[in-house]
Amino acid sequence: MPKVKPELFAFLDDSKIEATLSRLYTEALKQGWSMVFHFLPKAFKMFGKGIDWKMEKESFYDDKYIPILPYQGTFLYMQARALNAKNIVEFGTSFGISTIYLAKAAKDNGGKVISTEYMPHKVKIARQNIEEAGLSEYADIWEGDARETLRNINEPIDFVLLDGWPDLVFPIFKLLEPNLKKGAVIIVDDVQGFQPSMQDYLDYIRKPENGYISTTIRPKKAMEFTIKIS
Ligand SMILES: C[S@@+](CC[C@H](N)C(=O)[O-])C[C@H]1O[C@@H](n2cnc3c(N)ncnc32)[C@H](O)[C@@H]1O
Repeated sequence: MPKVKPELFAFLDDSKIEATLSRLYTEALKQGWSMVFHFLPKAFKMFGKGIDWKMEKESFYDDKYIPILPYQGTFLYMQARALNAKNIVEFGTSFGISTIYLAKAAKDNGGKVISTEYMPHKVKIARQNIEEAGLSEYADIWEGDARETLRNINEPIDFVLLDGWPDLVFPIFKLLEPNLKKGAVIIVDDVQGFQPSMQDYLDYIRKPENGYISTTIRPKKAMEFTIKIS
């Protein structure tokens, strides 16, 4: 994760959000070494064909942020704004870092984000963090197993972030698929690292006859991303 600098969040033009994201990423960075030691023995696999999620101990993640990186958050926000996404759905809230980026996009687009998390202590803290960022009005955190909670989505969906446990990407996607609008964008994190656990999803969305265009993106060289908003 890059060093936390307020400039990373300046484009959001909101001092409360900048302060909250700076605090949360600083806390997440403190877990960096335990993440490095956890994944070090598996590094060979992670950067090769990837790890099967079934080999992971879920309890290790009870207190872990495992957030999207700031440049991923930037990309999510910009994409959601470019789409004018009003109905945004997220699988995997954790402590609310990605939800803050999505809720800010929802606020600016006149919409809302529904995110879901099954660890009650994470839900409680995520709600507090989102409130601290001043975004409670734009984010609903549904507590419970996404395989149940997300059955209650009835509205057409513009934008999806799937960032829960990797082996659930395909079942959760299938649950949401009937409500996806034409032009909806679906982003899945951890494709590099846990690809074997989401191979069923990748095989499905990469078949043009299923109605999607999909590829893994790995932006390495800086590009300026601009949206005309007025
Ligand atoms: C990688 S973390 C999410 C990180 C978050 N998106 C962020 O960027 O801050 C994945 C989260 O998904 C949650 N999760 C995993 N399986 C779930 C399920 N079946 N239902 C709801 N939440 C789940 C985990 O408890 C964990 O907090």
